[in-house]
Amino acid sequence: MRTHVFRRSVGLLVVSVVIVACVYALLARNGSVKQLPKPRPAEEHRLLSPETYTYLLNQPAACKVRKPFLVLMVPVAPHDYSAREAIRKTWGTASQDTLTLFYMGITEGGQARSTLWEESRTHSDVIQMNFLDTYKNLTIKTMMMMNWLATHCPDVFYAMKVDADIFVNVFYLVRMLRSSPRRGYITGSVISHGKPQRNAASKWALSEQMYPEDRLPTYVSGAGYVFSIDLAAEISRASRFVRLVPYEDVYVGLCLRVLGIRPVYGRTWLFKNLFEIRNLEYDRCRFAGLVLVNGFQPSQLLQAWKDFSQGYKSC
Ligand SMILES: *[C@@H]1O[C@H](CO)[C@@H](O)[C@H](O)[C@H]1NC(C)=O
Ligand SMILES: *[C@@H]1O[C@H](CO)[C@@H](O)[C@H](O)[C@H]1NC(C)=O
Repeated sequence: MRTHVFRRSVGLLVVSVVIVACVYALLARNGSVKQLPKPRPAEEHRLLSPETYTYLLNQPAACKVRKPFLVLMVPVAPHDYSAREAIRKTWGTASQDTLTLFYMGITEGGQARSTLWEESRTHSDVIQMNFLDTYKNLTIKTMMMMNWLATHCPDVFYAMKVDADIFVNVFYLVRMLRSSPRRGYITGSVISHGKPQRNAASKWALSEQMYPEDRLPTYVSGAGYVFSIDLAAEISRASRFVRLVPYEDVYVGLCLRVLGIRPVYGRTWLFKNLFEIRNLEYDRCRFAGLVLVNGFQPSQLLQAWKDFSQGYKSC
């Protein structure tokens, strides 16, 4: 009986020591775990959550019907019909491998809803969510696009965010992507060592309160950037730890930094820049060797494309 009690006490003691040791080990480990970035504050979280908004127009089956290699997502204001029409008549529909969709919010005072609805029914390429479509809300728009892509297009290979005033050489782009990485890849016109513009009057103003760091992350110009489709979900996920800044390309850069992904500079092995974010005069054979050129009005795009589509192969 005595030895029995003794053995039980020893047993208990051993178990206790093991438990205490485990707790110590856990505590010690906890102490050395690198702190995760802080989640963004509640109000920003609400503004950037897809659950906050609802779709007024949607194309949930678009990627399943066409199974494109590359989805081109064009953020555009609801009233910018002429830009959409020009894109539909040019690079938006020029390649079998791509699918072009237009992404928008709502305008204050409300748009003539029936014309947009009609347009959406005719072309099946308009997606509209009920956030306010303003310049300051472009980050919301991009993050909703990322969520949309992750939800509806998991089986395409690449997506591109491209502004509505861009000339896109989809032929060169698709060819380039055929030999690009299929995961963790984002490319475009890479901007590094940028500094936040503290002058409140600037179009690019970023107050210290909004962005305390004195360097911008490495980011890809928002005129047009291309990424492997896995990044749509990854960027959405990382965004939970990134404070809102109104410049969507800088914001995506901050998300990439959380993910530890470095954007790849879009250029040839001879260092020729393929994503031309300056305005260039149209030149058929020069454009044949570029992915995109910035600053095209709808009429200029239509005119340039007429020549380009007929002659680019002979360059
Ligand atoms: C681990 O660290 C976190 C944050 O520093 C703290 O809230 C938590 O209580 C710690 N866990 C343990 C078991 O000490
Ligand atoms: C951004 O969108 C939200 C949601 O629609 C709206 O409440 C807010 O006023 C908008 N912000 C700006 C600066 O336009």
